[in-house]
Amino acid sequence: MELVSLVRLEGVAKHVVLPDDTRLDILRGIDLEIDAGDHVAIVGRSGSGKSTLLNLMGMLDAPSEGSVSFRGEPVRRMRKARLDRLRGRNVGFVFQQFNLLAGRTALENVMMPLGYARGREFWTRRAAATRTLERVGLGHRIDSTPEQLSGGEQQRVAIARALVRRPALILADEPTGALDVETGASVMALLDEIASEADAALVTITHDLNVAARARRHYRLDAGALTAFELDVPGHSSAADASGLAASVEETTDAVPASDPIGVSS
Ligand SMILES: Nc1ncnc2c1ncn2[C@@H]1O[C@H](COP(=O)(O)OP(=O)(O)OP(=O)(O)O)[C@@H](O)[C@H]1O
Ligand SMILES: [Mg+2]
Repeated sequence: MELVSLVRLEGVAKHVVLPDDTRLDILRGIDLEIDAGDHVAIVGRSGSGKSTLLNLMGMLDAPSEGSVSFRGEPVRRMRKARLDRLRGRNVGFVFQQFNLLAGRTALENVMMPLGYARGREFWTRRAAATRTLERVGLGHRIDSTPEQLSGGEQQRVAIARALVRRPALILADEPTGALDVETGASVMALLDEIASEADAALVTITHDLNVAARARRHYRLDAGALTAFELDVPGHSSAADASGLAASVEETTDAVPASDPIGVSS
């Protein structure tokens, strides 16, 4: 049997027409394959198309050109109801601003994606949500609302919400962007750990080298074009300390100035 990627982008381009009738090319010529259990980091400066790319991978948006396939099946051929079901069942999203429902408890927030499930998965949603909140260390805060939780805690609720249906693909758009360095690192370690446990693929968009270092493969998005780059940290591929990592990036990356090793700063 041929091995089929979880998600495959082939020749993907995205453009929009602006109000003044000019065309804006957001993404061009993107080829990318994500396999089960993969961990990919994507870096790039603001406006380079990272979120647009993530939305295409998550089947929230369709490309202008090229194709996106999920487990070998072209997304463009799927009917909307089936696409929604496939996405709900298989894709978990984590955002920079957590995007939790205000005034609802952690438990209600995490149960929410299961409100669309069927059968046993629906009827056991409270237990599943409780278990997932326990897994992210918030078993004692299930009745707290986002307003009562710290940023790091809110992001852990969001992670529980993304993972409660055991998705095959987790898409994280700057998950540590609103957190201090230390909290960000611990939230990222948790996300990484739970994704590995579940053999879920994790795609992380980040500006943070330490976060990127947790991934197995690294890509840079520059003006809508995606290029792979090496981010090797000898000896500690998943728990790099900042100084060692910065030094190794300067040694291994020659395409961009050492002061801006991954082309993140503008
Ligand atoms: N629907 C749209 N209509 C017009 N322009 C858009 C649309 N979606 C995205 N863009 C533009 O495409 C570019 C890429 O946007 P995108 O949100 O993907 O960037 P990003 O890399 O995620 O940036 P950031 O790091 O600031 O989040 C931006 O210039 C944005 O203004
Ligand atoms: Mg973005």
